[in-house]
Amino acid sequence: MKQDILVKAVDVTKNYGDFRALDKVSLEVMRGEVNCIIGPSGSGKSTFLRCINLLERMDGGAIWVNDELVGYRREGNNLHQISDADISRQRRRIGMVFQRFNLFPHKTALENIIEGPVHVLGQSVEQARERASLLLERVGLAAKANHYPAELSGGQQQRVAIARAMGMQPDLILFDEPTSALDPELVSEVLDVMKDLAASGMTMIVVTHELGFARNVANTVTFMEAGKVVETGLASEVLSAPKSARTAEFIKAVHS
Ligand SMILES: Nc1ncnc2c1ncn2[C@@H]1O[C@H](COP(=O)(O)OP(=O)(O)OP(=O)(O)O)[C@@H](O)[C@H]1O
Ligand SMILES: [Mg+2]
Repeated sequence: MKQDILVKAVDVTKNYGDFRALDKVSLEVMRGEVNCIIGPSGSGKSTFLRCINLLERMDGGAIWVNDELVGYRREGNNLHQISDADISRQRRRIGMVFQRFNLFPHKTALENIIEGPVHVLGQSVEQARERASLLLERVGLAAKANHYPAELSGGQQQRVAIARAMGMQPDLILFDEPTSALDPELVSEVLDVMKDLAASGMTMIVVTHELGFARNVANTVTFMEAGKVVETGLASEVLSAPKSARTAEFIKAVHS
């Protein structure tokens, strides 16, 4: 594999019973790249993210992250499912930020961030606290370190969730509609944090309906429909001069 490809998906297929949610999805994301996935509801965007971080098992195809096959190991010509321990090891290299912030409600912002570094990465509590404080500062929430999620706005909770993902020092962060549960006036504070993260060189795959963010921050945009990648390419080209009529129609509908 080429050195600078971080995520490579080839012909990923996922069925729910008779229903094909992903139909031979192929995508490459370079190291340090921001890829935005857009598409109508039910097109398979979340399912694809869930296959990348092993929340779903794919039925066909393969995904590599950092040159490592996700979920399987190869022996000769055969693929074998990897153990639960190996699944956890692979998953911890991949951050995930969901639409609903999924913070631990009984832990403060700081405690939410240090949980993984202490219990999964084995950092000392002092070291993890120090790093968490820096991360909170970076997402503009230094003053909220000791607040519980219920004491934070949706936008603040989502920024803590992003800091928590960063605390695990992942190779890649997946975002699944990170702003779509937020009140409109809170969207930009979360997008600003994501923009800063992108500028720092983090590789990001972002499912979003925020086409302004896609236009300003994404390197590449992928349009999915009915479980298929219809079109993928440079953000400026896909958003401004899409090749597919379906992509053009979707972009027009989101804008209006
Ligand atoms: N656990 C499941 N069991 C059965 N069908 C499922 C399951 N999860 C997803 N699906 C179906 O797979 C298709 C793709 O779902 P997915 O959640 O990936 O879409 P999406 O593009 O993320 O949509 P949205 O924009 O609404 O979040 C949908 O038709 C959905 O109903
Ligand atoms: Mg979804």
